[in-house]
Parts: sequence; structure tokens; C-alpha cells
Amino acid sequence: MSAPVYQKTVSAPVNIAVIKYWGKRDVGLNLPSNSSLSVTLSQNDLRTLTTASCSAAFEEDSLWLNGAMESMCESPRLSVCVRELRKSRLELEAKNESLEKIANYKLRVVSENNFPTAAGLASSAAGFAAFAQAICALYELPWTPTELSRVARQGSGSACRSLFGGYVSWEMGEQPTGADSVAVQVAPVEHWPEMRVAILVVSAAKKGVSSTAGMQATVATSSLFAERARNVVPQRMVEMKNAIRARDFASFAQLTMKDSNQFHAVCLDTTPPIFYLNDTSRAIIRAVESINSSVNGYAAAYTFDAGPNAVIYFLEKDSDLVLTTLRSVTQNAEGWEKADFKPVESSEFLNLEPTVIDTISSGVSRVILTRVGDGPQVLPDTESLVDTQGNPK
Ligand code: DP6
Repeated sequence: MSAPVYQKTVSAPVNIAVIKYWGKRDVGLNLPSNSSLSVTLSQNDLRTLTTASCSAAFEEDSLWLNGAMESMCESPRLSVCVRELRKSRLELEAKNESLEKIANYKLRVVSENNFPTAAGLASSAAGFAAFAQAICALYELPWTPTELSRVARQGSGSACRSLFGGYVSWEMGEQPTGADSVAVQVAPVEHWPEMRVAILVVSAAKKGVSSTAGMQATVATSSLFAERARNVVPQRMVEMKNAIRARDFASFAQLTMKDSNQFHAVCLDTTPPIFYLNDTSRAIIRAVESINSSVNGYAAAYTFDAGPNAVIYFLEKDSDLVLTTLRSVTQNAEGWEKADFKPVESSEFLNLEPTVIDTISSGVSRVILTRVGDGPQVLPDTESLVDTQGNPK
């Protein structure tokens, strides 16, 4: 009889920061220079599905990512997560005689995204969150999401925020060990379920500087960066938490846009400068500004990560206005067929120069419409990505 295969399947969400993590104070432990805050996006539209399995029959720790096999020991980030989880399972087995002795079995982890990798969306957050959550579930570790976030953080910083749904902060912590550098839920989805998200996928000619490399260059060379980490972000974290608690979209929007702009300013202040925004991104900023001037306030907020894609937050009550505007400037983009909104008649709010509209319409290839969503889910074995022998399906 062949050796039994133990397995657990989970899904984890993408999160998009509204107060950005940029800069490490300790590269080895992956500790950030400032706290950050994000919104978790719905897994109906964007998620990573991961099955973690282990068996006496497996010969090495391996990872299958979207169909391609990778050895885990070649990735220090994956190895550190596995080491910590395995150690905790060993401790659990030592304490509880009745537990199966699976900690030293080799692992096979199979992971897939439900969105095209070609879309260029940061998938490392959902990927590492799902990876840590799947092994944690397989090992039956009695951990809270905050405890698990300490492990996921070492895979990829932003991954720690994908262990909760809703509105999530990553508190930078003070301890040199990183024990207090963890994710905490600011508010669950139900607190402010009206938050909507439009992602405008901007085709980039080539892949830019990775976030890991980019933030290290910033820490080493930017003088604006120290001011941001020390004085600006701590204040903004307080204001953003207050805005979320009060469901105050105007404050949420202002802070989100200011923080995205400051993050990109700090990139520009890096030597050599890092450019993540392109002409299309900047034209989208103009379009969002024109939506906001049309309402004499705030109906939409843009934010950009380490690439040209725009993420636009808005409330359900403003969906018709925001989506009518965005669709009118991205007619050729894929993804509108799924949109559910009532087009607004008047387009006087579209006070945009024709060149701005052309730049957006030729630069945006796809739209993904989604909303705030829940944290990771442990799924039944029917969703598993491996067969009973532990081979990827
Ligand atoms: C711009 O989490 O990808 O998206 O910790 O080196 O893996 P590593 O970095 P990563 O950086 C994300 C940067 C960001 C901002 C954010 O998500 O807060």
C-alpha cells in the first residue's frame, strides 16, 4: 500500500495598500520602515488557490506555481516560512502523542491564481498568504491570523495583510526580532461593505524594478524617504484608521491619493530614479480628478503600486458615475461585459483633453471590477489541486 498523502486546500485574497509599505529596516527579517494599511479585495474576482500536501512518499519539498515546478529550497523566502511552520508542527507533535507524525514529511504545494498572470497584478501577497495559510491548516496549528502573519511577512511583506478580510494594518513593531511586526484587522468587511474597486490594467512595455530591489535603493539614497517613514506615515496611519472607523470616504480618498503620490515621489527621489507610473497612469489620475471636481468632493480615489496599473476605490452609491466615466475612456478594454451599472446620461464631468482620453484608451487593456472582501478560506478537499497520490491535477 502506498504511503498516505495528507492535504489541505485554502484560498487567499489580494490586498491593495492605501498607506504604502516601502522600505525595510531589517532585510533579513523583512521588517518595514513604516506601518501600512490595505483593503482586502474579493476572492470572487482575484484569489490564489493553494493545496499543501505532505507524505512519506515525497522526496523533496516542491512547489508547483501555475503549472510549473520549482524547488522550494532554492527560494530563501519560501524556506524560511516552511522552517517556522515545520518547527511549530514538531512542537505540537511532541506535546500531543495522538497527532500523526507528519512534520518531517516532505511538502508538495500546488498553487494557482484565478486571474491571468499576464495582467501584471502583484500576486506575491495572495501567493505567500495562501502558502502560509495552507501549510498552517495542513499542520493544524492553532494560530490566529495575526500569529500567522509573522510567518507570511517573511515571505513577502505585503502578504501579511492578506491574512485578514476587510481593512487591515501591518503594524511595523519595535522589537528587533520582529515579533511585534504583524497584521491586525482595523475593520471587517461588514463594517464598510460598500467599498468598490476598479483595477485598470495598463500594459507595460517591460517589467520595471521589483519592489524588493526598489525599496532597498530608496532606503539607501532618498532623503525624502526618512521624512516619510518617521513623520508622515505615523500620522497618516492614525487618520486613515479614523476615516475607516467613521466610514468617511472623503478623508479615505484624500489620504489614499496623497500616500500613493508620496510613495511615487520617494521613488523619483531614489538614485537612479524609479519610474513606476507611465503616461497612461498619469492620464488616469487626471480622469479621477475630473470625476472628483464634477461632484465638488470625492467620489473616487486612485492608488498605484510598483507598476503602472491603477486601482480606483469608490463607494457603491457612486458606482454609476465612476463606472460611466471610466468606461467612456476605456471602451476597448476587456472586462466591461461583466459590469453591472446604470450609465449616467450627462458627461459634462468629462472635462478632459482629447489627448488624455486617447492615452487612457490606448493604454488600458483590461478592467477588473471588484470590491472589499473576506480573508483566507479553508476549502473542502473537492477543491484540491492534487490527486490522492499528491500529484498536481
Ligand atoms: C508598493 O510586499 O512585494 O505594493 O516584502 O520585498 O516582498 P517584499 O515587498 P512587497 O512590497 C509591496 C510594495 C507595495 C506597497 C504595499 O503593498 O504596501
